[in-house]
Amino acid sequence: MSLKLKFDGKSVDWNEVVNILIESGMPHRSPEVHKRAFYMSHPVLFVYSDNKLVGFGRAISDGEYQAAIYDVAVLPSYQRKGIGKLIVSKIIDMCPNCDFILFASNGSERFYEKLNFKSNNTGMILSAGDLNPAATHVHDSLSDHTEVNTQS
Ligand SMILES: CC(C)(COP(=O)(O)OP(=O)(O)OC[C@H]1O[C@@H](n2cnc3c(N)ncnc32)[C@H](O)[C@@H]1OP(=O)(O)O)[C@@H](O)C(=O)NCCC(=O)NCCS
Repeated sequence: MSLKLKFDGKSVDWNEVVNILIESGMPHRSPEVHKRAFYMSHPVLFVYSDNKLVGFGRAISDGEYQAAIYDVAVLPSYQRKGIGKLIVSKIIDMCPNCDFILFASNGSERFYEKLNFKSNNTGMILSAGDLNPAATHVHDSLSDHTEVNTQS
């Protein structure tokens, strides 16, 4: 299978991105939201087979020592052909010296284990949906020069 790789979001059809997320059982948002998320991410990778988008992935990285991988998805009819491994491997190659974190979807754990990822017991998450209004207010009011008094 001949594959073409694209390393930016220019000319990507974001409706196709949403479609692949839906088809592969991943959470999805509107095409515009995914476009903005990919544009604000680095590195990003889109895989085409015969000019058809068949998979993608992205990371958020400081480019030095930390990176987080998100939205790795392959169209179901193209799965188990090495495309997912290609996507993650390329992202890793593009962030040399970085540690990587990710949340594996249910059922994809073995895929990541084969790429040498290991479970970690101390990973923690604060979901946007769990943020209470007070916490959001404090966060919004912070700027570079804001002094905050904490209870101590
Ligand atoms: C998970 C996913 C990205 C893997 O992509 P893929 O192209 O099918 O994976 P590959 O063909 O590159 O597989 C690489 C290796 O992992 C194995 N593998 C892939 N998916 C696996 C799974 N779900 N369970 C166990 N092993 C798996 C393959 O057999 C292959 O093994 P090998 O190197 O010994 O031959 C793809 O199945 C997918 O899009 N799933 C739905 C979305 C999802 O869960 N994404 C992950 C979000 S965190």
